[in-house]
Amino acid sequence: MASTAAPKAQVLVASNRGPVSYTVGEDGSLSAKRGGGGLVSGLSAIGSDADSLWVCAALSDGDREAVRRGEGEPGVRMLDIPADVHADAYNGIANSVLWFVHHMLYQTPLEPVFDAEFRRQWESYRAYNRAFAEALAEEAAEGAAVMIQDYHLALAPRMLRQLRPDLRIGHFSHTPWAPPDYFRLLPDDIAAELLTGILGADRAAFLTRRWADAFTACCHAVLGPGIPSGTRIGVHGLGADAEFLRERAHRADVDERMAGLREEIGEGRRTIVRVDRTELSKNIVRGLLAYRHLLREHPDWRERVVHVAFAYPSRQDLAVYRDYTAEVQRVAEAVNAEFGTAGWSPVLLHVKDDFARSLAAYRLADVALVNPIRDGMNLVAKEVPVVSESGCALVLSREAGAFEELGEDAVCVNPYDVVGTAEALHSALSMGEGERSERCKRLAAAATALPPARWFLDQLGALDD
Ligand code: F6P
Repeated sequence: MASTAAPKAQVLVASNRGPVSYTVGEDGSLSAKRGGGGLVSGLSAIGSDADSLWVCAALSDGDREAVRRGEGEPGVRMLDIPADVHADAYNGIANSVLWFVHHMLYQTPLEPVFDAEFRRQWESYRAYNRAFAEALAEEAAEGAAVMIQDYHLALAPRMLRQLRPDLRIGHFSHTPWAPPDYFRLLPDDIAAELLTGILGADRAAFLTRRWADAFTACCHAVLGPGIPSGTRIGVHGLGADAEFLRERAHRADVDERMAGLREEIGEGRRTIVRVDRTELSKNIVRGLLAYRHLLREHPDWRERVVHVAFAYPSRQDLAVYRDYTAEVQRVAEAVNAEFGTAGWSPVLLHVKDDFARSLAAYRLADVALVNPIRDGMNLVAKEVPVVSESGCALVLSREAGAFEELGEDAVCVNPYDVVGTAEALHSALSMGEGERSERCKRLAAAATALPPARWFLDQLGALDD
């Protein structure tokens, strides 16, 4: 899309997925759907007077059509990067390599293999980052603040710095950062390019101290001692948006979903709730295996508990995600086949995304299960305690970023330890009401300490320091 004649922006956000997506209706009309999340409320916090712009990629056919018709929402510029280049950069490099490295997901005897095909896709990743850097350079006012998001855009800070030395550039990683031994699975030149790409920013920020330290350690291991460019490192632990959640969770559509869920669960039963994208790092299968172990070893819980598991589709262009989704369904069915009775389904698995139903499950949660292999933060761990009505107990992986803030009042698990997770579920289900509710209050307070608007404004402020 050609640049608009509008004044240049003072605050810019750049991310792969933008705040809006488009679909083309049967009559050819375009409809826009607004997304939520931390960045959306963060950017709205700077007020409508500020000249702000969100630069993102067109992801769907509808998005591309919107760009072609020039019908984009004000304040958003979508980049119509050629579909094959975007697919290489997003599916090939960002999601199949960088995501796997930072979440340590490879089955290393056979993968990764950095061959000629990888090098070809890397060129697309560069071109995709360059498209962002050029758009940002074109749109930014003199001295503007540019907030570049995540592993998709690791090269863009340095590229932008070269085009526009006057800008104040921040990069934020929403994922964990890999420890040096794992990061160095990457070819040396690629590892160095990624790090120096981010070091092109004035400030590189992370969700927890642990991920920030891992980044610094990788810089030392790959580039030599010291952070060479003088880039400052920051930590901003994104919290849940209590005000939004409490209001949204009490609307009529959520009440309606609650009634439906209550019926599916059955009278007087406890609930173990999880809500995730069907994402390899979320560890849904081991969660189900732990629940099966609980029912085998603690038969008292049979008929008295239901595992409400919402696993919404994600990254279904990748075969490994499709296989994982099938495995989640297979294991859930196996548990139901082993223990289910005429009046009791031990697992309630839903795979169709429904935000109102997720909030209904949060409200009904007695236990929240959040057991990722590795996770940048995990907002579900922060959201359920805010919304749950009976004061939930939280079973939390020590590998989730949220553990840094919530660990003290959660029941901690090693995500690989299925027997340990089953025992943690048993403790959480058995916790006395008083203790559960006290812990839940403290969890909700810690979870909302840094709401999205402040999280974003703090980063903007820190760029000026
Ligand atoms: O950092 C991880 C992240 O980009 C999150 O911000 C988001 O929840 C998730 O991955 C979704 O990924 P995608 O845009 O690939 O669906």
